[in-house]
Amino acid sequence: MNVLVLGSGGREHALVWKLRQSGRVSKLYCAPGNGGIADQAECLPADLKSVESMVALGERLQPDLTVVGPELPLTLGVVDEFRRRGMRVFGPTKAAARLESSKSFAKEFLQRHRIPTAVYAICDSIEEVRDALGHFHAPVVVKADGLAAGKGVVIAANKEEAASAAAEMFSGKMVGAAGARVVLEECLQGDELSFLVISDGEQVAPLVAAQDHKRVADGDTGPNTGGMGAYSTADIIDAQMRDWLVNHIARPVVAGMKAEGAEYTGVLYCGLMMTAKGPMVLEFNCRFGDPETQPILMKMESDLVEALEAAIDGRMGEADLRWSSDAAVCVVMASGGYPGTFAVGKWIQGLENAATVEGVKVFHAGTAKRDGNFYSSGGRVLGVTARAASLERAVARAYEACGKIAFDGMHYRKDIAGRAVRR
Ligand code: AMP
Ligand code: GLY
Repeated sequence: MNVLVLGSGGREHALVWKLRQSGRVSKLYCAPGNGGIADQAECLPADLKSVESMVALGERLQPDLTVVGPELPLTLGVVDEFRRRGMRVFGPTKAAARLESSKSFAKEFLQRHRIPTAVYAICDSIEEVRDALGHFHAPVVVKADGLAAGKGVVIAANKEEAASAAAEMFSGKMVGAAGARVVLEECLQGDELSFLVISDGEQVAPLVAAQDHKRVADGDTGPNTGGMGAYSTADIIDAQMRDWLVNHIARPVVAGMKAEGAEYTGVLYCGLMMTAKGPMVLEFNCRFGDPETQPILMKMESDLVEALEAAIDGRMGEADLRWSSDAAVCVVMASGGYPGTFAVGKWIQGLENAATVEGVKVFHAGTAKRDGNFYSSGGRVLGVTARAASLERAVARAYEACGKIAFDGMHYRKDIAGRAVRR
């Protein structure tokens, strides 16, 4: 079969890498893809901000399956348009993707369906923010309602800081139209967990859980990013917790969306805080996580095509997702300045050397290939991912490979999965 992957990041490289291993895939396309993806799939231009552009590509290629990587095309309704034309596509509709594209929708949905989440207030003006702040204790979390690529959340140490963060969001300068509405939330304490399931609209199958590292610098310091590294181990949560999360979070979400007329098909990414009072939902994403997908797919032993098709065909209950008991870890190497402004076009050296480290796969996130050389082309450049029987060993392998790679200005965290290894 012919498969088209939409997207251009490390997540899409991991998807392409895993799809390549399926005996059922004969031709693989990726649009727009990146330098590393081009070694495994035919990369074609596409504008992910334009549904027409993606539909035109789909009509030309007539893929047997399309997999949508990032949130933007999903929230623009690319799945609705592909389906309308009879094309098989993996991902939620525009209406279902509101779980990610509107934080106020997600919070009200959670409340309607009594799914645990932080106390919140939805505000449309700075006056409403000031009134609502009276009901919160510092620190307060301030979130832009719309999509903001990880830059729409501020954890304010006190109420003045919260009010000024909200004012900046309303002004449009911080995250544009995404900040026209603001959600205030009580600040939760605990370990974060990325719990992803594949849904066919009714049934769900969990993927192995992972943990992301959102802050840019070691010790969880500095500003939030899209994610600087992630790991997944067999014991990150036990089977009992996994079943609890399926029964009390993932299934009720999918059932609630169906009851509200917006059936949810695709990956449902539950961003959770494991608090002393139990797991609570921080956010939903309507897609695979990046970089969580890199270690998750390194651990997946069953066929990804089968899993995606089971979701499209409503057979998720029978899907047989199998996982290695190995640990996997992904360390993101980023451009100097990221998550702020950064320069691109830096020559990346040592990739072949890094690939010789046992158990390592270097996924490309923001690279371009010219004359056989790779150059940086984005904020997150590489996701150096390693697998091994123990987490400690996987971490050592990933950092050994990172040590062989160099590009001007690069930086990466040295403590990915560090707390879990110490435990
Ligand atoms: P979100 O995009 O909603 O997941 O927020 C991004 C990050 O902000 C999360 O991964 C958490 O690290 C943090 N965060 C969001 N909401 C809260 C909350 N209610 N309490 C504590 N931290 C939060
Ligand atoms: N790693 C967080 C995300 O994919 O949104």
